[in-house]
Amino acid sequence: MNHEVVEKNAWLMGALIAIVISIGGLVEIVPLYTQASVVQPSPGIKPYGALELAGRDVYVREGCYNCHSQMVRPLQGDTERYGHYSLAGESVYDHPFQFGSKRTGPDLARVGGRYSDQWQRIHLNNPRDLVPESNMPGFPWLAKDTLDGALVSVKMRALTHIGVPYTEQEIKDAPSVVSGHTELDALVAYLQGLQFHGEAKP
Ligand code: HEC
Repeated sequence: MNHEVVEKNAWLMGALIAIVISIGGLVEIVPLYTQASVVQPSPGIKPYGALELAGRDVYVREGCYNCHSQMVRPLQGDTERYGHYSLAGESVYDHPFQFGSKRTGPDLARVGGRYSDQWQRIHLNNPRDLVPESNMPGFPWLAKDTLDGALVSVKMRALTHIGVPYTEQEIKDAPSVVSGHTELDALVAYLQGLQFHGEAKP
């Protein structure tokens, strides 16, 4: 009898469906905010150094994420090609994260150390100098643009407000760390740091 009332009233049914789905959603989502495996940094994960942080901003600004994901999926094809699958705890200091799903180029989550700094510099300047069939654009201006140290300090301070544990000293030293470096130096430093930091899991 009661069921009939619900089935004959689309609005009531819609509202009840919404309630049921929200409860289901909350049960899935809320525990993630407290689970240690999700919110705790993986062992070996440190906040980005000043130069790497500046490089990461260049990465975001240039839209590298439009063609490159940074998320090794727990699938055999992915792990054989790129290495250990990505763990949530590896991304705790990534604001915003760069997971992505578009792979015009390869995933970059484990690209650190795969090539020399020199390879990365030539490749970023003009990929076709090293990979003739590449359709990745060149970014020749990065070698000319220098970094603004004061800005890097400000960004580090902003990140402390959302839980990245930079010390006062690190923030103060940032301008001298990046001083004299180009955006290309910073981007290469960032790329070389993209490695598996964690305890390997089966
Ligand atoms: C239009 C798509 C596109 C954009 C944008 C792009 N790439 Fe690529 N990238 C590719 C493709 C395709 C390859 C594979 C061919 C090659 O090595 O050049 C590649 C390869 C790479 C590799 C070598 C990866 C490996 O494992 O061999 C790195 C490193 C890289 N890109 C970094 C970057 C960075 C950093 C940016 C932003 C400044 C960027 N890419 C922007 C398409 C893109």
